[in-house]
Amino acid sequence: MKIFTLKSDLKKFLSVVKKDQKRIGFVPTMGALHQGHISLVEKAISENDITVVSIFVNPTQFDNQEDLEKYPNTLQQDIELLESVNCDVLFAPSVTEIYDENVVAEKFDFDGLEYEMEGKFRDGHFDGVGTIVKSLFEIITPDVAYFGKKDFQQLQIIKKMVEKLGLPIKIKGMPIFREEDGLAMSSRNARLTKEYREAGPFIHKILKKARKKIHSKDVEEIIAWVEKQFKKHPLLELEYFIIADEKTLQSATKFESGKTYRAFIAVFAGEIRLIDNVRFKNN
Ligand code: PAF
Repeated sequence: MKIFTLKSDLKKFLSVVKKDQKRIGFVPTMGALHQGHISLVEKAISENDITVVSIFVNPTQFDNQEDLEKYPNTLQQDIELLESVNCDVLFAPSVTEIYDENVVAEKFDFDGLEYEMEGKFRDGHFDGVGTIVKSLFEIITPDVAYFGKKDFQQLQIIKKMVEKLGLPIKIKGMPIFREEDGLAMSSRNARLTKEYREAGPFIHKILKKARKKIHSKDVEEIIAWVEKQFKKHPLLELEYFIIADEKTLQSATKFESGKTYRAFIAVFAGEIRLIDNVRFKNN
């Protein structure tokens, strides 16, 4: 695997790849790679001639300094994992290489998608995500880029950005990878204490139970039921549970037949914030 830390070196390498009319697949990450990331990398490898993975913990998308400072860094292990699946290229730049001395996010208009859920609870988060993904797209110029559906709102926002900027990049959303006990895979899981790690699967369990209620309960009743389950839980603290239209991400007030909804959740397991989502289909 070729490893680049400088934009100029990576661009030079990719210009030859492009001249040969090879397809570039791209998987952006913040490292601390797990099986969910690897599934994206394997998909990219199977569909493209060259697969580029980036590892960059992007400061402008963190609204919480402590979360940024404690974000897990397992670079050596990540490199070994990427080599084991025959990834072609790793781009692991420094903060200065990406931002120079100006570590600020650009302001984006994602047609309102940015004001829901994560946007409400994490100030400026999606401007930060938009800034880094746009910049990585400019450097790498991929044909296809792969994103996990665990960050479903991020996926929709990136699709919107590509559409609005008219970029010739296909965005693919890939299924959520779960631990055997149902906890959605996340780099932040590595920071959970044993007690919180054991409590984690409760989140997906509740989402699955909530989904079963779609035919017998209305939106408000399901939300109230979920909130009650978390109030009773001794460790996990619910930040939000929302049922939203899958396309617009607007909160639903009632289920309309033929529409597809998704339930989105954010939960604090001590200091660690976990998110998850499941699809709700109303027919
Ligand atoms: O999903 C992530 O890991 C990050 O938000 C991303 C897309 C790599 C941008 O920093």
